[in-house]
Amino acid sequence: NPDSTKFEANSRGTTEEAFNESAQNRLIIKNGKVVNSDSVEDVDIYVEDGIIRQVGNNLIIPGGARVIDARGRYVFPGGVDTHTHFQLPFMGTCSIDDFYSGTKAAIAGGTTTIMDFVIPQKGQSLIEAYNEWRNWADENACCDYNFHVAVTWWSEQVKEEMAELVRNHGVNSFKIFMAYKDVFQLNDKEIYEVFEWCKELGAIAQVHAENGDIIKENCQKLLAAGITGPEGHALSRPEDVEAEAVNRACVLANQVDCPLYVVHVMSISAAKIIAEKRAQGNSVFGEPIAASLATNGTHYWDRCWRHAAAHVMGPPLRPNKETPDVLMDMLGRNDLQTTGTDHCTFSSAQKALGKDDFTKIPNGVNGVEERLMLLWDRGVVTEKLTPSRFVAVTSTNAAKIFNLYPKKGVISVGSDADIVIWNPNKSKVISAQTHHSKCDFNIFEGMECHGAPEYVILGGRVVVDEEEMKVVQGYGQFVPTDPFPAYVYDTIKVREEDRKPKGVNRDGTSSGLGDVLPPQ
Ligand code: URP
Ligand code: ZN
Ligand code: ZN
Ligand code: ZN
Repeated sequence: NPDSTKFEANSRGTTEEAFNESAQNRLIIKNGKVVNSDSVEDVDIYVEDGIIRQVGNNLIIPGGARVIDARGRYVFPGGVDTHTHFQLPFMGTCSIDDFYSGTKAAIAGGTTTIMDFVIPQKGQSLIEAYNEWRNWADENACCDYNFHVAVTWWSEQVKEEMAELVRNHGVNSFKIFMAYKDVFQLNDKEIYEVFEWCKELGAIAQVHAENGDIIKENCQKLLAAGITGPEGHALSRPEDVEAEAVNRACVLANQVDCPLYVVHVMSISAAKIIAEKRAQGNSVFGEPIAASLATNGTHYWDRCWRHAAAHVMGPPLRPNKETPDVLMDMLGRNDLQTTGTDHCTFSSAQKALGKDDFTKIPNGVNGVEERLMLLWDRGVVTEKLTPSRFVAVTSTNAAKIFNLYPKKGVISVGSDADIVIWNPNKSKVISAQTHHSKCDFNIFEGMECHGAPEYVILGGRVVVDEEEMKVVQGYGQFVPTDPFPAYVYDTIKVREEDRKPKGVNRDGTSSGLGDVLPPQ
């Protein structure tokens, strides 16, 4: 009975009971530099039964604990990847990383919680789709996970199911698509109503912001003109097609005071609109991804079809080599708030479905393993991000926005013991030969990253041990989320109150000047 899952995470299982009996359930991390989003401290951490029990110096620790010496290392909360698509049925195939290989890759890179998208087919029950995804993940996930649910069609049934998902299934975020016409795309009236309903439910609305009507027209014209290769994908979706949709989504959400989270921010134009709307007081958050922060769309013009097609995703990477740097700067300045990956991998054989027609190339790229290393190398090493800002954009902000905080996203007493011990002096070269994804291509191939995880601890268990993988299939737990995250909804309430429409009290005393200004 799916209803019995209410706020009950799946148990870590019998192997876990045996594990908890052993001395391994006690861990002390000594001599590290502990980084939170608002502090950097030289403190030790004591973990017992999966929870951080003590943080400080000269801790009094029960005997039998394993000691990890983190001297010369940073210690920070496990990464939260806000955006993955494991085993997603999509564009005539299914993304190749399932919840086992995908979460294994996540852990290898220092991510301990992923947020995946339940995407119902048009007309499909949201609850049914949610249960499908839960079944796939519950048995297989090595790291913790939560679900966003996509609203791909709109009806009274969908409304009711959204409410049911919020009340009884630990979901507090819903994604709508402004693209994928005739498949997932909603029109403006529907989007308005979804946003209004999200606000009512205390959920976060998420948007795939691209103008699907324009894209459809452009694709037809390009194909008719004989452009069938991956460059057609980029040409059909110029930057302003993304920016227009971001602006429209902000306008629609702002009409109904609904918090809006823009997934996969791919361009400078889109990011600038988010920054402007934030400056105007809109409740909007922007999520660039590993791909948009570390590579660019010039690859679509590569003479090797396989190489070019491997980069196809929507919205596309931009053929502007400055985009990654600008997006990273904007992350540093809080113009953008979180980072995900949109990890949605297809093998070269799967990509070849679009060999003669770029509109049939399955959309998606990798990133779940590489995100933290790329953010450190391109962000912290370059001093665009402080170590604390790195933590904010790789875990804390996501945890706050989606109400996972302080269980996730912080090293503090009572939080889950999801911890990364990071060696800033270790270098790694990214390659499909060594990554943990099942995909035969890596869009970051050959990139050298300075800084890498040495130990990853998930729920108190050492799952990367001096770089050795010790993951357990099915060990990951579903982490339910409550609606009305205070971090988001506190400001929404104030803004809503401020903007309540007020009529004019007409006592007949005209100033005669016509210069009475409406309240702002
Ligand atoms: O190309 C992409 N982004 N694939 C995954 C589906 C989506 O829109 O996020
Ligand atoms: Zn999307
Ligand atoms: Zn190539
Ligand atoms: Zn996605």
